[in-house]
Amino acid sequence: MLAGNWREGSLADGTTYGFTCPAPPRYRHQWYWDSCFHAIVWRHFEPARAREELRTLLRGGRLDGFIPHTIFWHDNAGWRRAPFYATHSLRGNRGTAHIQTPLLALAWELVAARSPDDPGFRTEALDALRLHYDWLGRHRDPDGDGLISIIHPDESGLDDSPKYDAVFGWMSHYLPGYFWLVERSRRLRYDSRAIIARYDEHIEDVMVNVFYALSLRALARLTGDDAYRVRAERTEDALVVLCWDEERGLFWDLAGSGHTPLRVSTWSSLTPLALPSLPEEIAKRLIEEHLLHPRRYRARYGIPSVSMEEPSFQAGWHLFRCWRGPSWINTAWLLAPALARFGYEAEAERIVRSCVELVERHGFREYYNPLNGEGLAARRFGWSTLLVDLLGGGDGESAAPSDGPFVGSLRDELRSIGAEVAGETLGRLNRRAQAAAKRLRPG
Ligand code: GLC
Repeated sequence: MLAGNWREGSLADGTTYGFTCPAPPRYRHQWYWDSCFHAIVWRHFEPARAREELRTLLRGGRLDGFIPHTIFWHDNAGWRRAPFYATHSLRGNRGTAHIQTPLLALAWELVAARSPDDPGFRTEALDALRLHYDWLGRHRDPDGDGLISIIHPDESGLDDSPKYDAVFGWMSHYLPGYFWLVERSRRLRYDSRAIIARYDEHIEDVMVNVFYALSLRALARLTGDDAYRVRAERTEDALVVLCWDEERGLFWDLAGSGHTPLRVSTWSSLTPLALPSLPEEIAKRLIEEHLLHPRRYRARYGIPSVSMEEPSFQAGWHLFRCWRGPSWINTAWLLAPALARFGYEAEAERIVRSCVELVERHGFREYYNPLNGEGLAARRFGWSTLLVDLLGGGDGESAAPSDGPFVGSLRDELRSIGAEVAGETLGRLNRRAQAAAKRLRPG
């Protein structure tokens, strides 16, 4: 499926590219965080494609370290689509002027570990990776608290999450005012510091900063430069000191210069579970009071993107609404291994098994209804293959922040489910054939 979504070629100036479209025809371009997830899966099967996907992402960036949210390689964003993309101008853009959750260094390290045939890969782009994370620190953390800000709701990748409603209001993603948000940023030439200084609609997003911290740690290991580990720790400390709500037992995004907590429970509030430094007592509360709470996140299928208890929770499909309840595979990919790491192996297994069921029944869809398991939105959706990584990629090695001992047993289970399904299907077909033969046989 990933191979079917693969696009490669070269531009008139000779620049080459190779990446996986998230889901053509709807998502035909290169998306930053999708590409990182795709590469994490590709590394199990064709590490060369994983490397090419990440190199292409880097190639789509600027020399100062900025890398766009979306890059239009083979297919420029036409005038009809242009208003949907946060570009510098209406025409002639190679990519958008905004960012997406920055997990490139994390993906780079994981792919490098599976590249014995190309040992230079690990170090070939260290300067560019440093520039990227330095750009983020310089432009997106003007108050210097260690947390980077997003200036558009879709910069996290969680486009229409209800946690952003109170901040962006009519300018929320998919609402008409989003065009004004884009236009406003265009007028300030997408200078993030100027935008943050001028307007108060910016957010220090918990999930974005969790991936940022994980990536800074990866960059510290790749470069051997301790300064990045220190930066990661600063971000992790800031999450606990500024975003943790002791009373509710959740992490909140912080809005605007006043750091107003956005008290809507979404899976983002649980993502610090993936941090190696998270104090155990906080992890236990996140898990027991929320992730495993039957009215909150313990759904039949996957992990819902919004707590089922929130008034904004919507389990099913809704035009242009995707992060208001459905289960996505990347949420399970990040959180299930964390659950196992804190000792809840059986629950982690249950979640992964429910995702296996989703994919077996509906294929790799963009997202699924957490209550009835219905497959929703785009088909052949790239990062839903993260499930394969979660199962160890066929070789027992998962990238998700902890492997957990359940991977092996789950794979065996998967095999036996496969065999059972095949057996059952054959049996049913056989019975139908016999019945049909009886019906058709004259007399
Ligand atoms: C949707 C998702 C976003 C993703 C994009 C491409 O807009 O919300 O996170 O990057 O599709 O798959």
